[in-house]
Amino acid sequence: MSLFRRRTIAGSRVVVTGASAGIGLALAEEFGRRGAKLVLNARREDVLRGIAEKLAAGGTEVEIVVGDVADPEVRAKLLAAAQERFGGLDTLINNAGVGVFGRFADAQPEQLRQVFEVDFFAAAELTRSAIPLLRQGRDALVINIGSILGQRGIPYSAEYCAAKFAMRGFSEALRPELKKLGIGLLLVSPGTTDTGFFNNVLAMNVSLPWRKNNPRGTPPAAVARATANAAERGRREIVPSLGGTAMLLLNRFFPWPIDWYLDRA
Ligand SMILES: NC(=O)c1ccc[n+]([C@@H]2O[C@H](COP(=O)([O-])OP(=O)(O)OC[C@H]3O[C@@H](n4cnc5c(N)ncnc54)[C@H](OP(=O)(O)O)[C@@H]3O)[C@@H](O)[C@H]2O)c1
Repeated sequence: MSLFRRRTIAGSRVVVTGASAGIGLALAEEFGRRGAKLVLNARREDVLRGIAEKLAAGGTEVEIVVGDVADPEVRAKLLAAAQERFGGLDTLINNAGVGVFGRFADAQPEQLRQVFEVDFFAAAELTRSAIPLLRQGRDALVINIGSILGQRGIPYSAEYCAAKFAMRGFSEALRPELKKLGIGLLLVSPGTTDTGFFNNVLAMNVSLPWRKNNPRGTPPAAVARATANAAERGRREIVPSLGGTAMLLLNRFFPWPIDWYLDRA
C-alpha cells in the first residue's frame, strides 16, 4: 500500500444508490474497475439490468436491487443483497438524488417532502440500517454525495439546497460517532456535473440565469475518480471540481459579489 493509500477498493463490497445514470453510474464503473463487488440500486429496472450485464461482462461481480430508495423495504433489500451475495458490506454510497427548481412560494409542499425523502431521509436511514453490517466490514466507509449547494444556498433551489445542507450537517455530526465504530465518512460535494440531473428534476418552473448557456460541468467520470481516490486516501470531504472549489472559497472569504449577483438573479 502506498504512503497515501489507507483503504483498498479491490475486493470491497459496495452499495451504490442511484446507479442507473450520471454520477452513480460513473461511481459503479470506477469502483468496479478498481475491483469492488457491487450492489446497485435505481428505479429503472431495464437500465439497471443493462448496466449490471455490461459490468459483469467486464469481470465485476454485481447484484441489483430495483426500486425507490425512499422506500424502507427497498433499503432493507439493498443491505440483504450485500449480505447474501457478498457476505457483508464495506462501503455505502448514498448517491441517489433529485432536484426541484422554481420559486419556493409557488411550489407544491409535496415537492419539499419528496426532495427530502430521496436526498436526505433515504440516505440517513440507509446509513443507520447499514451500521451493523459496516461495523463488521473491512475499512468500512460511508460516502455521502452532497453538493456545493449544501454549502451555499442559491435562489429558486430552496428545497434542494435545504436537503443538501441537511446532508452536510448530518455528515459532519455523524463522522465522529462512526469513527468510534471503525467506520469512515467521506462527504463529496460536486459542483455542476455533466449528467441528466437538470432534465430529471421534479419541476423546473424558472429559467435559471446561471444555466442560460447550458454549462456542461465536470464529467461524472472525473467526480467518480476523485471520489474513489479520496476513499482510498481516507479523506473526509472533497469538492471534486475547480469551479466549485473556487466558488466556495470566494463565498467563504469574499461573499459580497456572490450575494450581489444572486440578489439580482
Ligand atoms: N449533476 C449535478 O450537477 C450535481 C451537482 C451536485 C450534486 N449532485 C448530486 O449527485 C447525485 C447524483 O446526481 P446526478 O447528477 O447523477 O443525477 P441523474 O443523472 O439524474 O441521476 C440520478 C440517479 O439517481 C436515481 N434515482 C433518482 N431518484 C431515485 C430514487 N427515488 N430511488 C432510487 N434511485 C433514484 C436515478 O435513476 P432512476 O431514475 O432509474 O431511479 C439515477 O440513477 C445527486 O445526489 C445529486 O444531488 C449532482
